[in-house]
Amino acid sequence: MAPLLISSSCSSSAPVDTVIVPRPAKIEMLDGSCRAKSEPTVSIVEDFPYGPEAYILEITSDGISIQAGTETGAFYAQQSLKQLREHSGRRIRAQRITDWPRFEYRGVHMDVSRHFFGKEVVKKQLEMFASLKINTLHWHLTDGEGWRIRIDRYPLLHEVAAWRPIADYQQWCDNGRYYCKEDHPGAYGGYYTKEDLREIVAFADSLHITVIPEIEMFGHSPEVTAVYPELACGTKECIVHEDGTWERGQGEYCIGKEATFEFLENVLDEVLDIFPSKYIHIGGDEAGKKNWAECPDCRRRMREEHLDGVDGLQSYGISRIERYLNDRGRSIIGWDEILEGGLAPNAVVMSWRGVDGGLKAAAMEHRVIMTPNDYCYLDRVQGNPLTEPEGFGGHIPISRLYSYDPAPASMEGREYVMGVQASLWTEKVGTPEHLEHMYYPRVFALAEIAWTPQEERDYDDFRSRALLMSRSAVKKGYEVFDISAGDDLRNGYEKGVDHLAKGCKVTYYSTYSPRKYRAAGDSTLTDGQVGGWDFHDRWQGWGDVDCIYVVDLGSVRKIHSISTTFGQWASSGIYIPDEVSYEISDDGNQFERIFVQKRNPADSLLPAAFVAYDWRSRKAVKTRYIKVKAIDDRNRGSWLFTDELIVR
Ligand code: ACM
Ligand code: ZN
Repeated sequence: MAPLLISSSCSSSAPVDTVIVPRPAKIEMLDGSCRAKSEPTVSIVEDFPYGPEAYILEITSDGISIQAGTETGAFYAQQSLKQLREHSGRRIRAQRITDWPRFEYRGVHMDVSRHFFGKEVVKKQLEMFASLKINTLHWHLTDGEGWRIRIDRYPLLHEVAAWRPIADYQQWCDNGRYYCKEDHPGAYGGYYTKEDLREIVAFADSLHITVIPEIEMFGHSPEVTAVYPELACGTKECIVHEDGTWERGQGEYCIGKEATFEFLENVLDEVLDIFPSKYIHIGGDEAGKKNWAECPDCRRRMREEHLDGVDGLQSYGISRIERYLNDRGRSIIGWDEILEGGLAPNAVVMSWRGVDGGLKAAAMEHRVIMTPNDYCYLDRVQGNPLTEPEGFGGHIPISRLYSYDPAPASMEGREYVMGVQASLWTEKVGTPEHLEHMYYPRVFALAEIAWTPQEERDYDDFRSRALLMSRSAVKKGYEVFDISAGDDLRNGYEKGVDHLAKGCKVTYYSTYSPRKYRAAGDSTLTDGQVGGWDFHDRWQGWGDVDCIYVVDLGSVRKIHSISTTFGQWASSGIYIPDEVSYEISDDGNQFERIFVQKRNPADSLLPAAFVAYDWRSRKAVKTRYIKVKAIDDRNRGSWLFTDELIVR
């Protein structure tokens, strides 16, 4: 629908009456205006019709009033008013905003295991989240890179499993992934004391945010089994080297041993004591199940409980923990792997491997939270990979995240979608500035997906508001990725490119990847569309073969330039070719080589690169056929990726 409030081609001087992110459900503009500084009258109304988080904010020439059914609704009205004030002059235009959220769960995930972030960093993000009416922090507190929550009964978790001898994530991975004590030279990590945690929970509560802790089980736990090896399969012991470093343990808990449940229940008792949230996230993702298949204790459990293999064993473990938590008035959330082997009866499924887990669970009448990694994972870079800090692979610009609808009209069981979450894993994110850079402005988009009715959402309108919100976030001291430069999408990506070979037939002399990297198939290289910053996006890939093809211009044409681009995403094994050449021909039989360019050796060391191979001639050259040959270095077994042959 058309933007209601502000021009979509917004500049800093554009007149803006109302800038609210997330966009309210309903806005009626009224005549007149009100002093921005006027204090609102606030009424909490019984039987307020629009739901517990809803509010009506009315701004008239007589003053400002807020009505809501709860303190939370009134708090959200105040957030909207704050944004209006920030972006108005001395007066705010009269208007009536009637507003309520689309989803009850509006979450942001923060991984503090891969890199530890202190409580002030967490609180600063909570303030921003609250201003966006986000109501849940999903706090990933435990994982193989560090256990972050003090548990009195198991001191080695914070004394050892919270520390590593090497700060840099990659170097740590490359050097054995050891742990150490806090006083070890160069020890990196940390944990939250119970006071820290209570302080954060209370602070979040004052902002109407619930903190849901995630305690990973039954995988992603080598830091636990490093210090308590009796919780792993078999008969392992702690391995402590002479230099005081500790070897990592098995990644999974043993589900056959009662000791595991005793440990997890004791840990959960202390967790429940700190976190009053209805939901506890128990992880459940990516368990390697091989050890379970071989472990005598796990095998005995499978036999005695009549479980269907290792999937059934995992399901047994999750269901047993669910029962423990249900008995204490809490419910579990788990990553979508908890569907394997049978879903625990009351579990909420968090869908991350795309949307399939969410669809499946919703069809089974289980509540779901959507955070599909191809839309909602903020560890992917959002702009030009040549200038952005390294991400975890892939590219999720703000426009892609914004395009996500967690519960489309066509979805069976869409009423089971509790909400949506942006998730930030921090393997590559080592500083608070980088953390914020990855969050903002994409968290603005998440907030709007989660709050605003789908029919009121419009990307251009949102982008204008996100730009203004970005500016005010920067003024408040947040590090924000700058979308004003338009660098979130590759040049030509949105509008496409017009050129002589557009729509022309391509004959392939080598085979591109038939499935995953086929892009638009045989039309890809002449469809007038350039690839995005992500190799999944409109790029065609050749695995371990040269890329050779001929384009037929249809008739002999006069041309001045030929250009192709090859991309490099080294962490995914995609490299620019050793050599690219162009040949031309009038008849398609006899070709004449007019261009060759070898790789600059320094380029092959870059994590990312986009190399354009440009032939240009001031004097027109006549040709009908153009052959492109990109030669791969066979020793490396690498991939070649290219997007468009541009002829002018
Ligand atoms: C996940 O990204 N492993 C949930
Ligand atoms: Zn076992």
